[in-house]
Amino acid sequence: MSLLLGIDLGTTGVKCLVINERGKLLAKASEEYQLYSPKPGWAEQDPNAWWDAVLKGVRQVINTDKVLPKDIEGLAVSGQMHGSVFLDKNNQVIRPPILWCDTRTEKQCREITKRVGEKRLYDLVSNFSFEGFTAPKVLWLKENESRNYARLRTLLLPKDYIVYRMTGVLTTDVSDAAGTLLFDVRNRRWSQEMLKVLDIDGEVLPNVLESTDVVSEINEEVARATGLPKNIKVVAGGADNTCSAVGNGITEEGLVSFSIGSSGVVFAHTDSVKQDTAGRVHAFNHSIPNKWYVMGVMLSAGLSLTWFRESFGELERSVQSLSGLDSYGILSCEASLAPAGSEGLVFLPYLNGERTPHRNAKARGVFFGISRSHKKGHFIRAIMEGVCFGLRDCLEIIEGLGIQTQQVRITGGGAKSELWRQIQADVLNREVVTTSIDEGPAFGAALLAGVGCRVYEDVGEAVDCAVRIATGAEPIDENVGIYDALYPIFGSLYESVKGEYDMISRVTDS
Ligand code: XUL
Repeated sequence: MSLLLGIDLGTTGVKCLVINERGKLLAKASEEYQLYSPKPGWAEQDPNAWWDAVLKGVRQVINTDKVLPKDIEGLAVSGQMHGSVFLDKNNQVIRPPILWCDTRTEKQCREITKRVGEKRLYDLVSNFSFEGFTAPKVLWLKENESRNYARLRTLLLPKDYIVYRMTGVLTTDVSDAAGTLLFDVRNRRWSQEMLKVLDIDGEVLPNVLESTDVVSEINEEVARATGLPKNIKVVAGGADNTCSAVGNGITEEGLVSFSIGSSGVVFAHTDSVKQDTAGRVHAFNHSIPNKWYVMGVMLSAGLSLTWFRESFGELERSVQSLSGLDSYGILSCEASLAPAGSEGLVFLPYLNGERTPHRNAKARGVFFGISRSHKKGHFIRAIMEGVCFGLRDCLEIIEGLGIQTQQVRITGGGAKSELWRQIQADVLNREVVTTSIDEGPAFGAALLAGVGCRVYEDVGEAVDCAVRIATGAEPIDENVGIYDALYPIFGSLYESVKGEYDMISRVTDS
């Protein structure tokens, strides 16, 4: 039976897995790398660390009893979106990539909106300009590191750098190109007009493929370094969000996924481009030819819990290192000791600004309503609840655009915790389902590899063969009532402190 290799280049680490054509997981491995924040609001990584982690991960998954490397038909890479990998004339990395969660480009975003005009932005690239997107990063480089800018010959997205190291080919795919703000999402090609208005040389942009197109075979050097067969095909792959959606079977209108990873994402499949001209949700290209999606993005969903674990979870981390128990599992148990609604403790999950629904890079986190009765578990539960209120904001905007949302499939860290699954069902007041293999974007990437290598006819067939729906959670009436009462308070709290975010940023930036 054919085997498929999927690789996801995430924000905290890389995940590699091998599946068979029926979607059975045969091996998986993860390797972490550092996220550097040289200044507040900055987020950068080292592409060599990505590459080393990929090599290690691939070696691990193919050196297992269940995987015969010669049976692997192909591989595809999925990756964190928007990050800027700047290459020089020798294809060497010029400076550390600036990542999706970096907010240094507020000024450049304003400039883009001014130069192009908000309405024209939607006509050209179907989206509003956000700090995390790639075009503002190019302008930042030009304005702040002119020598580096002068050396720029190729601009790649993070996963494309891995594809380049595997094959020697400089390329990208439609789903990742869509997040650059230089891509004509409607017509699936670079926007010459955007390039002209922003004075960016189109020569720096790579060729764009559909996610299921074959790029090439792997280099001999990579075959030697990993143990992969020489003739293995590398398929273009896609953005982490589309790959995750493919892995969850989000391949037709009416299907929506909720993903709580580092970011929080509500992803709804669309058969045509559906734009939100208020700029709260993005309209991008799906990894399925001629399909699109809309997406609400929260910048600090899982990252809010990670922040809490790193800042206040010393005990949980020590228990993990002594006993092997997962520290997130322990945090979740502590949270379950607090009742639904966290006895009036409300958390705004905006640790590093927010995209959906607020479009505000200056927004910050808030715990509201702290009383003496609140214990650690209340704070953890309030974080989980605040993230779900944010996801509900995203869903309501998407529904407001007239997009059908018959079934919500949950995935990521938020689907692994029983408590977080329940909170999602309760906050939405609807059933949420999971899929039998929740291995995130790496799983979807493996399926795309299968389509590229003709193991499957198309993405629909891949999903039919490999994705099964499993039980999630049903809403509990009593909890629904509590969350329905808290949700408007969650919304109005943001409005109440909005002005103070500007004031605080003037203090911290001075
Ligand atoms: C999407 C976005 C994030 C990253 C996270 O626009 O910025 O979801 O893709 O990896």
